[in-house]
Amino acid sequence: VRKIFLTRHGESQYNQKGLIGGNSSLSERGEKYSRALPGALLERLSVSQDEPLSVAVWTSTLKRTIETARFLPFPKLRWKALDEINAGICDGMTYEGIAEKYPDEAAARKRDKLRYRYPAGESYMDVIQRVEPVIIELERERETVVVVAHQAVLRAVYAYFMNVPPEDIPRLAMPLHTLIELTPMPDGTMSEQRFPVD
Ligand code: G3H
Repeated sequence: VRKIFLTRHGESQYNQKGLIGGNSSLSERGEKYSRALPGALLERLSVSQDEPLSVAVWTSTLKRTIETARFLPFPKLRWKALDEINAGICDGMTYEGIAEKYPDEAAARKRDKLRYRYPAGESYMDVIQRVEPVIIELERERETVVVVAHQAVLRAVYAYFMNVPPEDIPRLAMPLHTLIELTPMPDGTMSEQRFPVD
C-alpha cells in the first residue's frame, strides 16, 4: 500500500441523538461532510502526487459509510468486516440508557473496555480479530486506499499501523469529520497527519 486514508462516516441520525449502533442515514451535517470529502481528499492526493486513478475506497456495509463515500470518484468495495462493533442488546440505546437499564454491563465495560463483550454482541478484542483480513488486504494493496468506516473498527485499524498497545485501543481519539492520512516511512513505520474537514 502507498498511503492509507481513514475516516469515520459523516454524522448520522443516530449520532445526532446519541444512540449507538443501528443503521441510520447521515444527518444534514453528515451529508455536508460527504460533499466536502472529495475535495479534501483530492487536495491531499495532489500534494502526494498519487495518480487519482490508483485509489480505491473501502466502506462497511452500513448506510452511513456508503453514503459518506458516495461522491468519491473512485472504485468502491464493501466489507462486512468493517461494520461497527456489534453492541448486541444495547444496540440503538444511549450510553445513559444503558447505564440505567443495564448498570452491571455499563460498569463492566468501564472496568475493561478492551475485553468487555456486549451480550449478544462483540468486544474490542472481537473487533480487532475481525478486521484482520482487512488489514492483510491493506498490506497487500498497491493502491492508495481510503477506508470509510466507524469509530471502534477504525481504532483497531489505526492501532495496527501505528503500533498502539491493545489496552489503549478502546479510547483512541477518532473524531468525526476528520481525514487521517497515514504515510509509509522508509523505516517501515507510518507517519500520521489529521485534517479536520468542514
Ligand atoms: O457504537 C459504537 C461506537 O462508535 C463505539 O464507541 O466503543 O467508545 O462506545 P465506544
